[in-house]
Amino acid sequence: MVETSQEIFNTMRERHSVKHYDTSHKMSREEVEQLLSAAHSAPSSWNLQHWKFLVIDDEQKKQQLLPIAYGQKQVVESSVTIAILGDLEANKNAETVYGEAVAKGALTEEIKGRLIGQIDGAYQYPQVARDEAILNASLAAMQLMLAAKAVGLDTCPMGGFDRKAFVEQFDISSRYVPVMLVVVGKAAKPAYASSRLPLGETIFWNQML
Ligand SMILES: Cc1cc2nc3c(=O)[nH]c(=O)nc-3n(C[C@H](O)[C@H](O)[C@H](O)COP(=O)(O)O)c2cc1C
Repeated sequence: MVETSQEIFNTMRERHSVKHYDTSHKMSREEVEQLLSAAHSAPSSWNLQHWKFLVIDDEQKKQQLLPIAYGQKQVVESSVTIAILGDLEANKNAETVYGEAVAKGALTEEIKGRLIGQIDGAYQYPQVARDEAILNASLAAMQLMLAAKAVGLDTCPMGGFDRKAFVEQFDISSRYVPVMLVVVGKAAKPAYASSRLPLGETIFWNQML
């Protein structure tokens, strides 16, 4: 076994989807931003950073979210719900991202132009844009959940919500696809014990059997 710092492994093992939260626990915007800073450090295709975070901490807005989340109470009982949105036009970030890289001397103008050409080519296909948005925003969501666990908080990722109603209620631009909700807060009850399929059934070496 390779020697590692155990902390990250413990954090991953201890993270579970908590459904019941201490309603008296509040998070400051600074605390939320600390977690989102960790989420924002996620890797992304072409470093396009396909995520936006809509933080819902207002009581009235949480109540509006409840029926949209099919009555799942964690959206009102947790401290905040963070809607992870995927950017369907993340190619528009390329100029800024690569402009900075050129300014730092990490990239030439010529390579920047070539990369942007490749990216815009790929983004002609709506399915690519959608896949990329969901794929990359999901990585940020995972980092958010681990960061929360690392500071002693709990989370629940939620795909069970009416996306159309969410977009209408929260006035989300068609540029963004709602990927998932992540509630964050202090657990009032531990998560249900979840298990995993045997690891051996999930690993293949060199070919799928
Ligand atoms: C994309 C995604 C969507 C999920 N949607 C919901 C949801 O709507 N409601 C809920 O209570 N849990 C939801 N979960 C949590 C899963 O049920 C949970 O991750 C799984 O049972 C494993 O348990 P654990 O996270 O506690 O290890 C979701 C998880 C993921 C990754």
